[in-house]
Amino acid sequence: METLCVALGDRSYPIHIGSGLLTRVELILPHIRQKKVVVVTNTTVAPLYLQTIQSALESAGVSVLPVILPDGEQFKTWETLNLVFDALLGARCERGTTLVALGGGVIGDMGGFAAACYQRGMPFIQVPTTLLSQVDSSVGGKTAINHPLGKNMIGAFYQPKLVLADISTLNTLPERELKAGLAEVIKYGLIRDLDFYAWLEENLEKLLARDPAALTYAIHRSCANKAEVVAADEKETGERALLNLGHTFGHAIETGMGYGEWLHGEAIAAGTLIAAELSRQLGLLDESALKRIERIFVRAGLPVFGPKLGVARYLELMSHDKKVQDGKLRLVLLQEIGKAVVSDRASDTQISAAIEARCT
Ligand code: NAD
Ligand code: GLY
Repeated sequence: METLCVALGDRSYPIHIGSGLLTRVELILPHIRQKKVVVVTNTTVAPLYLQTIQSALESAGVSVLPVILPDGEQFKTWETLNLVFDALLGARCERGTTLVALGGGVIGDMGGFAAACYQRGMPFIQVPTTLLSQVDSSVGGKTAINHPLGKNMIGAFYQPKLVLADISTLNTLPERELKAGLAEVIKYGLIRDLDFYAWLEENLEKLLARDPAALTYAIHRSCANKAEVVAADEKETGERALLNLGHTFGHAIETGMGYGEWLHGEAIAAGTLIAAELSRQLGLLDESALKRIERIFVRAGLPVFGPKLGVARYLELMSHDKKVQDGKLRLVLLQEIGKAVVSDRASDTQISAAIEARCT
């Protein structure tokens, strides 16, 4: 097992990465205040892993209340969130009861938001079971639900007490989900870690084949990058915005296509290529770097063109982006592989041209 730390003063927490961690109850016990936890999961993950973690906790004398939600991005809503509150109140959970989010990013984001809201904040633990959630969403405390007008628009910054990333859970992950997770892994290389990007180019096939050593390295390196950024800028007043490379376009794709049609990672892949194309058109990124970026996403089996929603629709959806400041869109652009910047210098005409070029 490897352990990293998200350094946030007295709210610092460990990220444990390794195989078979779901039964390592001694890793969880120091982080719970009561001998009672609520495990929020979904109808896909529950039959796979709920019993494993539940039995481990119960054998240590911890009672477990499972809350099993419907599965899918389209259920990342107020209505589903309310099911968690119904269960918490029904079981007389207290402010000191811990909520454990067992699943991918949807469960992690929604479980975290429920924990942030319940009695104004109960402790929570992230047990991510997708590649995407192990490298990104479980770390950093962004929690949210979707709104019909925009992705992750209703939420809170609320840090977990612990992240427990059991890489053996990735063995049951569908191929398409594994590839979607790679989009966020590649992101770290693109925005701030050229050496990691080169490592990914060398080792992509191993990751696609779920080689445990390669997966552990990629998860560790991704989390190390994320932990550093979050420690420096928890509430996204600066550097953290770089973690949103491709997300302004990607979120527009997810919302515009209907939640769940394009996986988050797929939308981010296409969105990253639109951002890269815009960076090229603005003279920031050279053509050969753009091609190199396209190649890695193609090799990862990810889309490199967005859907043809129409430029006006993209711009309308993007106008809700959380990075909009004083009505002006700010975008993450690439200067080179390994170096990203946040910029408001692109005009609507230039953004439109990049969308036209990369959406088919
Ligand atoms: P997801 O949570 O929908 O999980 C993908 C699918 O895999 C689901 O059907 C899920 O039930 C299933 N699944 C989960 N673990 C499994 C396993 N081990 N074996 C088999 N099936 C499994 O999607 P995701 O890609 O994990 O997360 C995407 C979400 O994360 C989006 O809502 C996105 O907005 C959010 N996100 C949040 C942050 C953040 O910082 N909070 C960062 C990136 C993404
Ligand atoms: N996934 C973007 C962030 O955590 O800031």
